Amino acid sequence: MFWRKLRDVKLFRTLRFRLASTFLLLLTGVLAVVGLVGTQTLRTILENQSEAVLHDQLGAMKGYIHFDGQGNPIWFADTGDPEEEATVGRLKAVFVIANDRGDAWDGSPDPALKELFDRNGILSDLAQIEKAKEPLFKTIVGKDKVPYEVISSTMTDADLDRKWYVAEGRSLAADRLVLRRFRRNFFIFLPIALLACALVSWYSAGRVLESLQSVEKAAQEITGSNLGLQIQKRGADDELDRLIDSFNAMSGRLKASFEQMRQFSTDVSHELRTPLTAIQGQLEVALFTATRKEQLQEAIENALQDVERLANLVRALLLLSQSESGQIPMNKTVLDLRDLTGDLVDQFQIPAEASSIQLTHETRESILCEVDRTQIERVITNLLSNAIKYTPAGGWVRACAENQGASIRLVVEDSGVGIPKDHLPHIFNRFYRVPDPNPEKGLGLGLSFVASIVKAHSGEIQVHSEIGKGSRFEVILPAGAVRIRSETPVMQDRA
Ligand SMILES: Nc1ncnc2c1ncn2[C@@H]1O[C@H](COP(=O)(O)OP(=O)(O)O)[C@@H](O)[C@H]1O
Ligand SMILES: [Mg+2]
Repeated sequence: MFWRKLRDVKLFRTLRFRLASTFLLLLTGVLAVVGLVGTQTLRTILENQSEAVLHDQLGAMKGYIHFDGQGNPIWFADTGDPEEEATVGRLKAVFVIANDRGDAWDGSPDPALKELFDRNGILSDLAQIEKAKEPLFKTIVGKDKVPYEVISSTMTDADLDRKWYVAEGRSLAADRLVLRRFRRNFFIFLPIALLACALVSWYSAGRVLESLQSVEKAAQEITGSNLGLQIQKRGADDELDRLIDSFNAMSGRLKASFEQMRQFSTDVSHELRTPLTAIQGQLEVALFTATRKEQLQEAIENALQDVERLANLVRALLLLSQSESGQIPMNKTVLDLRDLTGDLVDQFQIPAEASSIQLTHETRESILCEVDRTQIERVITNLLSNAIKYTPAGGWVRACAENQGASIRLVVEDSGVGIPKDHLPHIFNRFYRVPDPNPEKGLGLGLSFVASIVKAHSGEIQVHSEIGKGSRFEVILPAGAVRIRSETPVMQDRA
């Protein structure tokens, strides 16, 4: 419940917060590990040091202890040497000497160290030393709450062959203080380091995201009038620059298609205006000047022709826009392109003969393919009507289809006027017509319609044309699933 509420806070969902907090968490983890490992290492070092010091102290103690005539141990130091006396004094701070029955003979005067003199303790130490054959370390806590580390061993009086227990110790207060200081300093340093890291990562995450905001701002500024808006790259060639690149490319594409749309509506209004103006003119002239019935009739007939042209234009435009936006549903069926082309060529024989053009169909094999019949009919009809339209009398037009691996090729060729090179790239654009002394020849929409259908079939269209010699339009379409099926050899069942 609480966590869900926390997650809903807007700040916690920001990229900046998440980046910064991830850094911070990571650093906290690393520092905690460093702290633990550091403390442990320091403790081990101090322990090793302490043991080495105690070893030395035990050696020195044994050197200063002698046995008197009765076999009793005594401290023996050169009273004239102050340095030696100081050493012995230090050694006598924490020590005990006891016989092998555990009775203490001599020991530290410090009342806090009573535990050193404990008989049972001494006897158990002796047993362990006997077993391990080496000095024994133990830690005791004095009555003053100070911990002491004690090393114990045995010493033998050679004359009487008597074994003595000797123990020497040192206070661990200083070592513990070092450890405590280290821990305290670390815990003071930890929050400061974390705070500094939090500030730095908050700041740097902010810096990184600032550049993202420039993209965001640019995206917000895009409107219809500045579609091509480009964001300045930072030159770092990093992820952000690539994002900016994609953004710029996207905005470029948007601009291009928006431009195209604008151009299209300009073209459409222009195309519509011409016949409308003509109709208006004819009707006005008839209304104000016609005196006879025949004059009125003629004007109405002319106007009707223009209305028909308008209706054709509107129908073609609607079809084209539907086709380009993919609104015409594809209804693919398997058909033989040889038959389809043949039928259409037959339909065009009459207009071809009327223009004294020899129209032939030259598909030899059967061309099975999976396409939308109506749409492919439109493609062939448009190409054939263009070929006939742009071929002078006495010329020829040829149509043929052929198999070509997994695709099919549809060719419409003519011996007509040809298309000038500089116009060739534009003929598939809407309303584009090669300037012609006889402007009544078409709407300029046929080839753009062809192109959109071919594109919807995932095919491509190519043109080769030479002025005065003729043009060759080639449509290459994927044959669809039929070709794959018909190319698979049929397995013979011999059973
Ligand atoms: N077979 C051809 N021979 C010569 N020019 C052609 C041929 N097909 C198309 N064109 C040129 O391409 C232009 C665009 O063709 P299209 O889009 O069908 O428009 P149109 O309505 O003028 O036929 C035509 O105006 C014509 O200049
Ligand atoms: Mg045409």
